[in-house]
Amino acid sequence: MKVPLVDLRRLPKHVAIIMDGNGRWAELRGLPRTAGHREGSRAVRRIVRAARRLGIQALTLYAFSEQNWARPPEEVAALMELLREFLISERREILDHRIRLRSIGRTERLPAHVREVLRALEEESSGCDGMTLVLALSYGGREELADCMRLIAQEVLRGVIHPQAIDEALIDCRLPSMAEGAVDLLIRTGGEQRLSNFLLWNSAYAELVFSSKLWPEFEVEDFYSAIAEFQSRERRFGRIFSHQNL
Ligand code: FPP
Repeated sequence: MKVPLVDLRRLPKHVAIIMDGNGRWAELRGLPRTAGHREGSRAVRRIVRAARRLGIQALTLYAFSEQNWARPPEEVAALMELLREFLISERREILDHRIRLRSIGRTERLPAHVREVLRALEEESSGCDGMTLVLALSYGGREELADCMRLIAQEVLRGVIHPQAIDEALIDCRLPSMAEGAVDLLIRTGGEQRLSNFLLWNSAYAELVFSSKLWPEFEVEDFYSAIAEFQSRERRFGRIFSHQNL
């Protein structure tokens, strides 16, 4: 594959990825689905490294959705174990490269042995000033909005904020996934073209790039190519450009 040209001066600040296709990758090879997730976590390592080297400011990965709890218990357990292994094996690299690790989602639902390593690395890396890596875990975009509305309603009840003060900026401040700013580029692998309850508010003006590659086979060149595609698009945010405004 020809290496796509990426303009380092016009990088998306915040990239988000729906890493889809692990199961199909394994099934195509006659392997258990968990083998696909294992290969998928290798892809996570190379894409995180590539994003950091390029100079991406924030990368949000959809690692486990709120709906994924409904998968067979052995698959959920395997995903939890891979997550724990990732946090342990990447700890040194994360800290050495000053990556700040954060999580979003209802992480209190994660098993204690995962929550502990997650909290510890979030804490240890909290002062890091390099790329921010956000893991969406037990995450759902609709759930995040519902949690946020509940919080705001409580603040209204306590008299801390007036209903008139509820606007887009206030919601931006209350949504954990908006801490790194809105998503500029959202990539989905695996051939499906939908958001599947990921970052709903944040991706209002995101450029969407769909790859037919299954996540375990998503290479660094595919990541560059998604960024090059982003850079070829004209972002208008609902406006029109002055030269069209005649
Ligand atoms: C979707 O593939 C992927 C997931 C449900 C989980 C993503 C997890 C990883 C990439 C590995 C672990 C994560 C980290 C951060 C180390 P699918 O199973 O829905 O694939 P299918 O659509 O082919 O069935």
